[in-house]
Amino acid sequence: MDKFLINGPCRIKGKVSISGSKNASLPILAASLLFTKPVTIKNLPRVRDINTMLNLLKSLGSKIILSKDRKTAKIINKKNMKTFASYSLVKTMRGSILVLGPLISKFHKSKTSLPGGCLIGARPVNYHLSALKKLGMQYKIRDGYILAKSNGRLQGKTIKFPKISVGATENSIIAACLAKGKTILRNCAVEPEIKDLTQFLNKAGANIKWSGRTCTIIGVNSLNQTTHTVMADRIEAGTFCVAATLAKGNLQIKNLEPKIINTELELLKKAGSKIKITNNKIFIKGPDKIKSIKNIKTKEFPGIPTDLQAQLMVLMCKSIGKSSITESIFENRFMHVAELQRLGAKINIKNNKAFIEGNTKFIGAELMSSDLRASVALVLAAIVANGKSVVGRVYHLERGYENIENKLKKIGVKIKRLK
Ligand code: EPZ
Repeated sequence: MDKFLINGPCRIKGKVSISGSKNASLPILAASLLFTKPVTIKNLPRVRDINTMLNLLKSLGSKIILSKDRKTAKIINKKNMKTFASYSLVKTMRGSILVLGPLISKFHKSKTSLPGGCLIGARPVNYHLSALKKLGMQYKIRDGYILAKSNGRLQGKTIKFPKISVGATENSIIAACLAKGKTILRNCAVEPEIKDLTQFLNKAGANIKWSGRTCTIIGVNSLNQTTHTVMADRIEAGTFCVAATLAKGNLQIKNLEPKIINTELELLKKAGSKIKITNNKIFIKGPDKIKSIKNIKTKEFPGIPTDLQAQLMVLMCKSIGKSSITESIFENRFMHVAELQRLGAKINIKNNKAFIEGNTKFIGAELMSSDLRASVALVLAAIVANGKSVVGRVYHLERGYENIENKLKKIGVKIKRLK
């Protein structure tokens, strides 16, 4: 398993191009199962989770024509597709559960593996199943699989999600596109990635309208051929903005509409960064002294994203003074704390709240990644640590950050891959 050797501390300076969003690409690729005509998706990030989703689509019978740079996929579905999503593929990437909605809506049957949990939590799919059941899906769970079927077309319904869920919102919107009649989804997640999904579907002839957290879908009989360019990855952009704030950096972030990370940028200004934005560029200059922020709380969009929590924790370790971070989305998303403590961090956890002493001097160490976002937080800590750090299991990073070592190298990070 590859590792990264990072020789800190590094000053970072230069330009970063943000890749396509993994979390917008996954539901859009899953939704391609609804199409009988070819659909072309552009600006896909070249990361492992996208490969997994493409392999899953191929296993269902889709023909995938990838461009040379592997950022554009032309997807052509057969008339009769398979509807079996195997555990071997689903277990490596939880987002695979997103094929359930389109399969049941288009083919009225599916055998999809339960995704299982991961390190950040049990990751149940009960909200997905109860919403799809209200649309007419019948299912039973056997041997870790969801055996699902419907009597013909799904039927539009009014559904209120008991809790805001990105995946359950996406699965339900996709399924409702071909259902009979009107579906009203209340208490939806409204992340930009979901809006990118509905923009893609509407372009292909779906009928989806938003009003706050309510999404109304009028079912259609079929979707037309279309091409869609996936939005930029706001978590990657946020990660580089945290890096600039952390390492007295001077970065230009390109290809992203700055307003989708407005909340994050406001927070980094509070930490002392100077930020200027144009229509699709962010200029960020990190402070000499990082200000601590009393109580950061992760929330559903438009709040501070949970996917940036670990990165912000590293920043607060280096801030002057005490701070705290409350993780309100996942029940176990502090796996990075133990590793940060090995670098010298002084962090106390009480339930879902982390209390952070600032002024930490990170000393380089051997580190172990646990999940995608925790891994990148360890890389950030290694960048500002004194001495050599080795970050293990970089395959976690490669799930969601395209070409991360070259992007870091280009802005001054002394990083080397160890085979
Ligand atoms: C999506 O996961 C993202 N993944 C996650 O990013 C992100 O952290 C999360 O949304 C929150 O923003 C993708 O988009 C592929 P949820 P998802 O359903 O859809 C509970 C990354 O690093 N819940 O909004 O799984 C759940 O356990 C990943 O890119 C249920 O209880 O998140 C969690 O506590 C990590 N039952 C909360 O709701 C359900 O049926 C929010 O989960 C569904 C969710």
